Amino acid sequence: MPICYDAGTRQFHLYNGRFSYIIKALEDGSLGQVYCGPPLEPSRSYPLLAPLPFWGFSNNDRNIQRFEYPVFGKGDYRLPALALTFPDGSGAAEPVYQSYRIMPGKPEIEGLPAVYAVSGDEAETLELLLRDEPSGLEILLSYTIFSGVNCLARHARLVNRGRGPVTIRSAMSLSLDLEDANWNLVVLTGSWAREFQPDETPLHPGIQGIRSMRGNSGHQQNPFLLLKRPLTTDFAGEALAVSLVYSGNFRAAAEVDSFGITRLQAGINPETFAWELSPGAAFDTPEAVLAYSSSGVNHLSQDLHQLYRTRLARGRWRDAARPVQLNNWEGTYFNFTESKLVEMAALAKEMGIELFVLDDGWFGQRDADNSSLGDWFADTRKLPGGIPALAKRITALGLKFGLWIEPEMISEKSRLFEAHPDWAIGVPGRKRSEQRQQYVLDFSRPEIVDHIFNVLKDVLASAPVAYVKWDMNRSITEPFSASLPPERQGEFFHRYILGVYRLYGLLTEAFPDILFESCAGGGGRFDPGMLACAPMGWLSDNTDAFLRIGIQSAASLCYPLSSMGTDVSAVPNHQTGRGTSLSFRAMTAFFGVLGFQLDPAKLSESERRTVALYTAFYKSRRELFQFGRFTRLSGPGVSGGDSYAAWMVSSPDEAAVGFYKLLARPNRGPCYLRLQDLDAAAVYEVSFWEEGGFIERDKALNCGLRGGDELMNAGLRLDSEGGTKGDFFSELILLKRR
Ligand code: DGJ
Repeated sequence: MPICYDAGTRQFHLYNGRFSYIIKALEDGSLGQVYCGPPLEPSRSYPLLAPLPFWGFSNNDRNIQRFEYPVFGKGDYRLPALALTFPDGSGAAEPVYQSYRIMPGKPEIEGLPAVYAVSGDEAETLELLLRDEPSGLEILLSYTIFSGVNCLARHARLVNRGRGPVTIRSAMSLSLDLEDANWNLVVLTGSWAREFQPDETPLHPGIQGIRSMRGNSGHQQNPFLLLKRPLTTDFAGEALAVSLVYSGNFRAAAEVDSFGITRLQAGINPETFAWELSPGAAFDTPEAVLAYSSSGVNHLSQDLHQLYRTRLARGRWRDAARPVQLNNWEGTYFNFTESKLVEMAALAKEMGIELFVLDDGWFGQRDADNSSLGDWFADTRKLPGGIPALAKRITALGLKFGLWIEPEMISEKSRLFEAHPDWAIGVPGRKRSEQRQQYVLDFSRPEIVDHIFNVLKDVLASAPVAYVKWDMNRSITEPFSASLPPERQGEFFHRYILGVYRLYGLLTEAFPDILFESCAGGGGRFDPGMLACAPMGWLSDNTDAFLRIGIQSAASLCYPLSSMGTDVSAVPNHQTGRGTSLSFRAMTAFFGVLGFQLDPAKLSESERRTVALYTAFYKSRRELFQFGRFTRLSGPGVSGGDSYAAWMVSSPDEAAVGFYKLLARPNRGPCYLRLQDLDAAAVYEVSFWEEGGFIERDKALNCGLRGGDELMNAGLRLDSEGGTKGDFFSELILLKRR
């Protein structure tokens, strides 16, 4: 996996056998983008691919060039990767290439989440140093290529070696100029309870993309952008994705220029950012990960899953099987007593559930969402013995105990607000806007982060807490920090998210055995930055299994199953009112980290027995479901129809296929489902999971010994000859290698 440098042509070639990325230092000292695509022989130089000489009407048209890190002010009129203001108010910069360094492995980025390498064999890093001579500003671009996955991690570090301050107005994590614009752009948009809605449009001249200005990445926009050729499917064709390892305001955009070049960029959103870099100071951009596939979107997703599951997530829980949980939120909301919780936990235990999670409402005097955030002491009206007594009773049942917190927030009705009204974000002299009847704490101030850490540390140390759900239920308004001078207010949003990362770091370091799950009113901050802090996240408050299939499919474009909290909830569903069978709900939730979010006392005895069977089945194969190789076989998402959905997880020895009939349509043909990721030369025993719903005909047709070649090329034949009547029917097919 060499990174090759050719001194004659000043060409850098990052190569891992499956993917090539080539950069060239141009004559004027800027860096040109040469190539990003299927592997090319790394020892050659590629003059034909190199950027064109400047030409055109003015004979110096830089807009025809493909640059690696374009700057504002030198005649490239597209989106700049770097925009600065110097002490004299000017902004034109001219960073010139100075030197390079190639090293095994990957250095960390201080204070920011990033992917990592544990050995020098699995990754190699190239650093390119540029310098803007008049200002003394140095720019260090870093590129890490991985051996096992087609992924390239990039970030930039700016160091002010001059004598005056420099204001960074924009510093992208990644900028990539692609030679043409024949791509469709896919972004993940949505809103609360409707996260991860893929939107696909052909690129056209101008700027398209997605961005956040809320202080968190947002339900409305995930920091992810996919380009696919118009005919690319999940199984074939070229695709390229950018995923930003960041949880705050971001911009991910594609600009198509008049020469048909596509400039792809991702980084901190410049609209809400300005950072003053004093002499001697350094600034690191967040990291962006570029993923490439020439064989369909599934392969790109699988590479991102592997990288994020094994080299972004960290700590004891990175590789540990996640427990099956019962969360009380939809079962009780704010209305519970200690004995009610213990009753729920006892029934959970009988159903084989391993972890009981106490959600919102346990602290201060919180009977609704209008009070007590910040008062992290138990409400003794509901929990007379506090968290220690409750945890003791739960653990005595043989369950682990987990707790919900929302550390970034403060309610106006709280002791914390009485003591520190100025800790809530707001502009002095202006009214603060409430969202969900609460305000956000100013985490750009280290003393506030320290206070919350100390309070939460005491809570978590007071009882055997095995799991924490970290929620975040509103975005930022009136952005302003009392601790920053006027000329530095542009730093507020980034400093806020650095404070969030710092608190996560303090808590995960102090409690390395706790499993953290991130949440933001569902998937309002489900992003790679959070995945570095907590190995799993709550994907959406929408627990309707039918809609969850679309949400989980689209989230799987970027995120691994081990990161997705997927709960079975009661019917009629609390968000949609829809009824679906327990088996349909469970088989949807199997593809992720299974949990339950309901009151078990409201289930019939036979339903509880069924839940116990489902839980036992999931536990017997949870490594496969959480850590297996995941493939979207069919269904909602970027490619596929809406009559059926099908997912598959596989390991070298076994696989499971979830087949979901969505909306019933009479008199249609069967679904031929070609499987993936099997060994064509191997034989597999195909069976249907007996406890799940299945059609006898499907079972008879498909069960038995089948070749991997047949299963991948001819497939299964399901919902045969019209199948069942009714919507939302599912089958689970198991494969065991013989
Ligand atoms: C939003 C979360 O997504 C829910 O699961 C629940 O924890 C509520 N907040 C509690 O307020």
